[in-house]
Amino acid sequence: MASPIPEISLSLSGLAATRRLGAAIARTLRAGDAVLLSGDLGAGKTTLARAILDALGVREPVPSPTFTLVQTYETAGLIVRHYDLYRIEDEAELDELGLDDALAEGAVLIEWPEHAPSRMPSGALTVALDAAGETARIARISGPRRFMDALAALVEVVRG
Ligand SMILES: Nc1ncnc2c1ncn2[C@@H]1O[C@H](COP(=O)(O)OP(=O)(O)OP(=O)(O)O)[C@@H](O)[C@H]1O
Ligand SMILES: [Mg+2]
Repeated sequence: MASPIPEISLSLSGLAATRRLGAAIARTLRAGDAVLLSGDLGAGKTTLARAILDALGVREPVPSPTFTLVQTYETAGLIVRHYDLYRIEDEAELDELGLDDALAEGAVLIEWPEHAPSRMPSGALTVALDAAGETARIARISGPRRFMDALAALVEVVRG
């Protein structure tokens, strides 16, 4: 059996570090990829999604998809859909939100993946955020080797 890939734990000292992590993730993203953003209310999931989209060149406002459930961004060479599953009550609701098509067409960023665990794509990159004070956050990153190798090389960059 292949040895398990160690999780990367990063201390994000402030918003600038979160933005650097977003830029690092953006560089790894390809069509078919899913990034699951976990963490409590206010942990920084939307902030990290904004950082990823900003690094991909999105200049329009990036609202939280709390009510729309999904927002679509056409970036250069990659369509990115940003989901927030906080308000879904039944995992089947995800079928109407076109997750399979979104993955066939581009990449997805998903806040509150815990609300539809059975529908989450295998092979996703998971970023779990925890508050560690007003502006500090801990990011625990896990996923397939392709992501982890790419991100391990960027750890120093994220630490700043
Ligand atoms: N290092 C940091 N990384 C991310 N957010 C930070 C950081 N420091 C402070 N913040 C602040 O924490 C808040 C995070 O809010 P955000 O909407 O991103 O959380 P969320 O996890 O998406 O919450 P929700 O579950 O409601 O969707 C923002 O006000 C942001 O400015
Ligand atoms: Mg959010």
